[in-house]
Amino acid sequence: MPAFSISKQALAGTAVLGAAFAAGVFIGKKCTALHFGTKKLRKTLGEKDDPLTDYVLRHSLREHPMLKKLKLRTMEEPEGMMMVCCDQAQLMANLAKLISAKKVIEIGVFTGYNTLNMALALPDDGKVVGCEVNNDYVSIGIPFWKEAGVEHKIDLRIKPAVETLDELLAAGEAGTYDFAFIDADKKSYNEYYEKCIRLVRKGGIIAIDNVLLNGKVLKPNKKDMDWQAIQHLNEKILRDARVNISMITMADGITFAFKL
Ligand SMILES: C[S@@+](CC[C@H](N)C(=O)[O-])C[C@H]1O[C@@H](n2cnc3c(N)ncnc32)[C@H](O)[C@@H]1O
Repeated sequence: MPAFSISKQALAGTAVLGAAFAAGVFIGKKCTALHFGTKKLRKTLGEKDDPLTDYVLRHSLREHPMLKKLKLRTMEEPEGMMMVCCDQAQLMANLAKLISAKKVIEIGVFTGYNTLNMALALPDDGKVVGCEVNNDYVSIGIPFWKEAGVEHKIDLRIKPAVETLDELLAAGEAGTYDFAFIDADKKSYNEYYEKCIRLVRKGGIIAIDNVLLNGKVLKPNKKDMDWQAIQHLNEKILRDARVNISMITMADGITFAFKL
């Protein structure tokens, strides 16, 4: 064998690694935009310094390999941008761990990134109730839940989320949930919030997504039903004595309501 010859296997391996690296760079870029929520939002907030956000992500994101796999699979879908931002999901998992959460409600599962994220954060006897209307989206995520070994912690309910929340209340589960994430149709956000206030225990957390509506909260538009719903809820939660709150500009804006 000549001194510089390379085996076919090594060549193939190098090619695969190269392709994976290139794909990683490409997908990494795509996902960085995803982490931001949207670049449009960042501009609205006066933030033009995307490299800084890149830095933050590169120095703080500790994504579980199965979450990474599900993210890449989700990015293949035309609606992939609906997926929760990864840094936001990580923050929510950290908060859930901090309060020793065992019972979580996910309103709007999509392909199940945050459902998996929460299931991974819970103890083995923990439970995530996943509310979703679209079985096609969820069926993308289920194999990843299985592969991660947490499927047994996920109680998936394919029906309008309001119905599932009513079922939980009727089953006497008021005040037993530790964490709820509201991330579905905006018009129902107020209803979701009110039901979650009843389902979550004192000291529990309700996280509400998209509270900045891609910056549209700054542009009143009474014809826009999403704007109306979010604006109404933002105003209401500001004065809601049942909770302490923090609204943060991560992703598309998240309000954390800490139940008193
Ligand atoms: C932004 S995505 C959720 C993203 C998800 N939380 C994640 O971790 O990537 C919103 C989801 O809400 C679902 N949805 C819309 N209306 C709903 C309803 N009335 N009840 C339950 N799910 C609903 C949509 O099908 C969609 O999958």
